[in-house]
Amino acid sequence: MSYGKYINNLAEERLSKIRNANLHKQEMEQDKLYSLFPRLKEIEAELRHIGAMAAKAVLAGTDARTVTEQLALRSSALQNERKVILLSNGYKSDALEPHFTCEKCRDTGRIENENGITVLCDCLKNIRMQIACEELNKVSPLSLSTFESFRLDCYDMDVVPGTSTSDYDRMSKILEYCKKYAENFSAESDGIIMKGATGLGKTHLSLAIANEIIKKGFGVIYVSAPDILAKLERFHFNYDYDEEEQIVTTLTECDLLIIDDLGTEFQSNYNTSAIYNIFNSRLLKKHPTIINTNLTLKELEKYYTQRFVSRIMGNFVKMDFRGSDFRRPNKR
Ligand SMILES: Nc1ncnc2c1ncn2[C@@H]1O[C@H](COP(=O)(O)OP(=O)(O)OP(=O)(O)O)[C@@H](O)[C@H]1O
Ligand SMILES: [Mg+2]
Ligand SMILES: [Zn+2]
Repeated sequence: MSYGKYINNLAEERLSKIRNANLHKQEMEQDKLYSLFPRLKEIEAELRHIGAMAAKAVLAGTDARTVTEQLALRSSALQNERKVILLSNGYKSDALEPHFTCEKCRDTGRIENENGITVLCDCLKNIRMQIACEELNKVSPLSLSTFESFRLDCYDMDVVPGTSTSDYDRMSKILEYCKKYAENFSAESDGIIMKGATGLGKTHLSLAIANEIIKKGFGVIYVSAPDILAKLERFHFNYDYDEEEQIVTTLTECDLLIIDDLGTEFQSNYNTSAIYNIFNSRLLKKHPTIINTNLTLKELEKYYTQRFVSRIMGNFVKMDFRGSDFRRPNKR
């Protein structure tokens, strides 16, 4: 599975900006230290000179060995002197070196694996995923809902007949759970299925979770089931398999996938199998998914298969939303 050229290029650009910013920072730091301690600059110049002389000596052959040995001695004396200047003035011994965001690849995005083959560094893979998520989220109302704007005062405090809790109690617990979930989120957190009638805050709370964990740098995608499936289907039936694969990859690999309005999509073989695929791949990778639906358990089993639904129910935290439709005028 892979992302397309467009996303890969954007990722390279973003990483190279990070690298350049880090190199620029190092230059500024170097300039500052050289003007504070001019001897450091002299040392640097002499070290460069030694490097050039050593190369020359090797090329000249003959008594190269004694010359290079002497140069090596001088070089290590200079490096030592530099270290002493830095440390005795309260700087770290590597204060003149560049500091990269990813020290593993020095912000190049490439490392050598144990077989000596150049491979992508995890940092570049992460940037690709972030960008793929941003692309898919471009059309979603992500920033509109927060935990702070989720009100509890509108839920009924009376115990619901036949149960031992009120809507207020239940929704307080759900809100608390969602806040904790966002606070402790990891790419292997549990999935959640939010069920309930329309206008009860399912989308609101799932977006609130998304907002919190995006701030922590996780790759989150929020999609509505009918929208994303229509998009995939369009690419598929136009033979645009690269685009289709890129979206499926992003949906599968992101840290958190939120699928809103499951069950309102057009029912077709393509859509059902696309949903199965995405869920199965995510379950295998232990990546969490949040599903929102108006469907009851029975209806879910009718739309999808019993096996599929029991897999979801076995692996997801279930939340039954209660209350009355927030969109109704007398509610606010
Ligand atoms: N407890 C709440 N406090 C503040 N606003 C709320 C609350 N619950 C819902 N809302 C607001 O009411 C509107 C409807 O809520 P939301 O879209 O989350 O409902 P839903 O459960 O996803 O409904 P549907 O099943 O139709 O998608 C949104 O504008 C949302 O911000
Ligand atoms: Mg909704
Ligand atoms: Zn890296």
